[in-house]
Amino acid sequence: MKKSAFITSLLLLSTMYVCAQTPVYLDEKAPLEQRVQDALSKMTTHEKIRMCHGQSKFTSAGVPRLGIPQLMMSDGPHGVRAEISWNSWAYADWTNDSIVAFPALTCLAATWNPQISAIYGNAVSEEFAYRKKDVMLGPGLNICRMPLNGRNFEYMGEDPYLTGEMAVPYIQSAQKNGVACCVKHFALNNQEVDRFAVNIKVDERALNEIYLPAFKKAVQKGGAWAIMGSYPLWNGVHCCQNDTLLNKILKQQWGFDGAVISDWGGVTDTWQAATGGMDIEMGSYTNGMTKESEFGYDDFYLGNNFEKLINEGKIPMSVLNDKTARALRTIFRTAFNRNRAYGNICSEAHYTACRQIGDEGVILLQNKKGILPIEAKKYKNILVVGENATRSLTKGGGSSELKTKRDVTPLEAIRGMYGNDVDYAQGYSSGRVMYDHVDNVSADELARLSSEAVEKAKKADLIIYVGGMNKNTKQDCENSDRDDYNLSYGQNELIARLAKTCPNIVAVMISGNAYAMPWKNDVTAIVQAWYLGSEFGNTLCDILSGEVNPSGKLPFSFVNKLNDCPAIALGKESYPGINKQQTYKEGILVGYRWYDMKKIKTLFPFGYGLSYTIFKYGKPKLSASTMSEGDYITLTTTVTNSGKRTGKEVVELYIGDEKCSVLRPVKELKGFKKILLNPGETKTVTFAITYEDLKFWNDKSHSWTAEPGMFKAYLCSSAEDVKGEIEFELK
Ligand code: BGC
Repeated sequence: MKKSAFITSLLLLSTMYVCAQTPVYLDEKAPLEQRVQDALSKMTTHEKIRMCHGQSKFTSAGVPRLGIPQLMMSDGPHGVRAEISWNSWAYADWTNDSIVAFPALTCLAATWNPQISAIYGNAVSEEFAYRKKDVMLGPGLNICRMPLNGRNFEYMGEDPYLTGEMAVPYIQSAQKNGVACCVKHFALNNQEVDRFAVNIKVDERALNEIYLPAFKKAVQKGGAWAIMGSYPLWNGVHCCQNDTLLNKILKQQWGFDGAVISDWGGVTDTWQAATGGMDIEMGSYTNGMTKESEFGYDDFYLGNNFEKLINEGKIPMSVLNDKTARALRTIFRTAFNRNRAYGNICSEAHYTACRQIGDEGVILLQNKKGILPIEAKKYKNILVVGENATRSLTKGGGSSELKTKRDVTPLEAIRGMYGNDVDYAQGYSSGRVMYDHVDNVSADELARLSSEAVEKAKKADLIIYVGGMNKNTKQDCENSDRDDYNLSYGQNELIARLAKTCPNIVAVMISGNAYAMPWKNDVTAIVQAWYLGSEFGNTLCDILSGEVNPSGKLPFSFVNKLNDCPAIALGKESYPGINKQQTYKEGILVGYRWYDMKKIKTLFPFGYGLSYTIFKYGKPKLSASTMSEGDYITLTTTVTNSGKRTGKEVVELYIGDEKCSVLRPVKELKGFKKILLNPGETKTVTFAITYEDLKFWNDKSHSWTAEPGMFKAYLCSSAEDVKGEIEFELK
């Protein structure tokens, strides 16, 4: 053999030897489960324990000795939060962590467009990947039970079907980039008042029909790799350590194989957390957002105390192995995944995505005299009024607050479009953004600002009012609910005064929640905008100018008065609870389910939104008038754009059970399609109605049941605008 051939064979052999020695957990071609179990078999008890709790404010440990990386987490859900210090809640003051703020999840839900959801998930996760974050703390999937909840803006409305359908593409496209979604807050975190201590009673049907389905879909259809336990208690046990919720429902019934991560400070007991299905405990000895403590990470409930119980054999090793395997799975899917995306931040593509999401989520609620889109040449003196026209709304709100690289305010964008002579008056003031504190502004100051605006209004022939809420404490912010359904800072009075002064008012309202509109009839147009992120102003101008035809629809109902809302109407035990005990008395009748049943007319119903064009619906037709178990039928209809502009319409399908042995809502959302139509164009829309769509949660058999009999399909443009009805029978 020649010398070179000899050397080559030697090299080959040594490579083969090294390969043969490569542990399975490092072999990227080996199946995930084999890698996880191999890693587990090489770890000491202490190393396993270390993976079950935080090692800093936003990371949990890997296995340094084996080269298994730690998990880096960040809030979520509207962009990557600025870097937080390793060991305190203070921002780390990095100079490379400014990002794009994407629109709030309420806005995403308002698009009713799953393709937009996929665009969102992809873009936001690329920012997480670039910032080297493995776990994105979001999306939030709690149901909007009442409009005071401080965190509704981080969720996707009052309907479990809409929330679930919108969550799935978000999660799938985010996780394609190797970033885990940690869907939150599982479960029943439907208010911020007493969030750490309120004990919730909810009947089995409401739990299964309203509060769990979006999470179930996120896990089973979306394939979420992580889930965050919530703060409140359900049936006397904190949700972060609730055996029924985490072990029985999530892991056993739904087959979730990822990691349950606690909300920050949501674990309160070693035994319960260890045996109750919590896998990675975060933020203990804090109040979630602010309070620090002298405790070290080994003192966490799933630290030394848990290790002791394992070593004494009081809790079996299999419990620890299961938790560690779940943490490992999450690491292998993200941080330890060579194929994950590198991502990017602040790319033009992300600003475009941000604007695209906003453009489809903004809702036109009222448009008298066809005042919108604004024809600039009609007006000589345009006046912008309202603090939100100049305020950065990416700040505040709690853990979802963001540090952006570039923001466009409404005033900047409006002046960019209609000229620098557009005048501005602040109109009201809300003070500084302070977490857990309200910066009170004096009545004198509010009166001065209001009069100043009215004075300017005398000269104006068009007012664009930009107000609403702003993520201050008690204004769409974590850890507090709003005190009142009315807008704050004297805005109701201000709008009424402006309306008396100027005949043309376009009210652009920013919020993540519904609010009272005593001035509804006094203003010409109402635009419901959300926290629209970095492209706030540009998005707004797209809609105001008609560059984009509005196509968003409400993901929750706007009630006329707070007492119309069932959670409120049913008394303090129902909201916010008495002595921290709460019962969801309305059961399954949340949102439009209640308004339908009680025949309460809303201010603006669920699923409502106008367009600059007109859509005409054809009659619904069914493929068959009967169906049997396991079967499906199809419903088709036509929709025509009979107006003059290209536009998108959301066609909504609801199903109602005509006669049933249990109470059922009049109708429930079971399908929606968003279609684009040119002027004069007609399209056919088809929905499948499946056997599954007819089921309710049977609290006697504890399973999903459909009862034979007559059902009705409702083809709608909103929950109160039924375009066609058609009956069919389940045999
Ligand atoms: C919030 C979570 C958030 C976590 C970390 C908690 O207070 O409830 O939504 O992900 O803090 O910031």
